[in-house]
Amino acid sequence: MKIINVAIDGPAGAGKSTISRKAAAEMGYIYIDTGALYRTVGLNAMRQGADLDSDDSIIATLTDELKVELRFIDGEQRMFLNGDDVSADIRTPEASMAASRVSAVPRVREYLFDLQKNLAKNNSCVMDGRDIGTVVLPDADVKIFLTASPEARAERRYKELTEKGMDVKLEDVLADMIKRDYDDSHRAIAPLKQADDAILCDTSELNLEESIDLIINTIKSNI
Ligand code: DC
Repeated sequence: MKIINVAIDGPAGAGKSTISRKAAAEMGYIYIDTGALYRTVGLNAMRQGADLDSDDSIIATLTDELKVELRFIDGEQRMFLNGDDVSADIRTPEASMAASRVSAVPRVREYLFDLQKNLAKNNSCVMDGRDIGTVVLPDADVKIFLTASPEARAERRYKELTEKGMDVKLEDVLADMIKRDYDDSHRAIAPLKQADDAILCDTSELNLEESIDLIINTIKSNI
C-alpha cells in the first residue's frame, strides 16, 4: 500500500494537535506530534542542568547516549527519554519553555530531523509541527497550513484556561499569542511559514467539529 504523508503546520492555538489526531484516526494513519520531540529534548536539557540561555550548553546534552524515542501504545504516541516514559513530564509549563528554547538551536533540529523523516518514510501519517511542510517533509502528499486569527485563537485558549479554573485576562492571552506568533515566524532557523504549495485552512469562523471536517475533506480531496 502506498505510504501517504500529510503535513500540518500552523501557529500556536490553532487546534493543530486535536484536529490532526482526529483526521489521522479517520484516515487510518498514525498521528505524529513533533512538538513532543522538542519537548523531550527540552526536558532532557533541563534534567541535565543545561544553561538554557546557552546554545553550547544545550548542544552538550545531545550525547551519543541520549535516547529520544517515540513509541505507539494503544495507538497513542508516547515519548521515552533514555527508556523512561516522560509523556506527562513534557507537558509542564517549564518543559514548554525549555522546548521553545531548544527548538531554536540548529543542532537540535538536525538531531530530530532523521527521526521524523524515518517515521514518515515507513508509515502513512499526519505529522504536525511548525516546519513539516517546509523542511521535514517537503514532498508530503498533502500540506495544510492551519490557522485562525489571533483573536479567535486567544478566545479559545482563554476559554480552555478559565475552564481549568485559571485566573487570566483575555487581553493578556491575546498579547501572548501575538508575541509567540512573532517569535515563531521570525526565528532564524525553520521559522513558522506557510509552504508555497500548502493549502491554507482558516478556522476563525469554524467550531471544532467543522474544523475537523474541513481538514478531513481537504486531505481526502488531495490524496
Ligand atoms: O507544539 P508544541 O507546543 O508542543 O511545541 C513545543 C515547541 O517546539 C514550540 O516552542 C515550537 C517547537 N516546535 C518546533 O520548533 N518545530 C516543530 N516541528 C514542532 C514544535
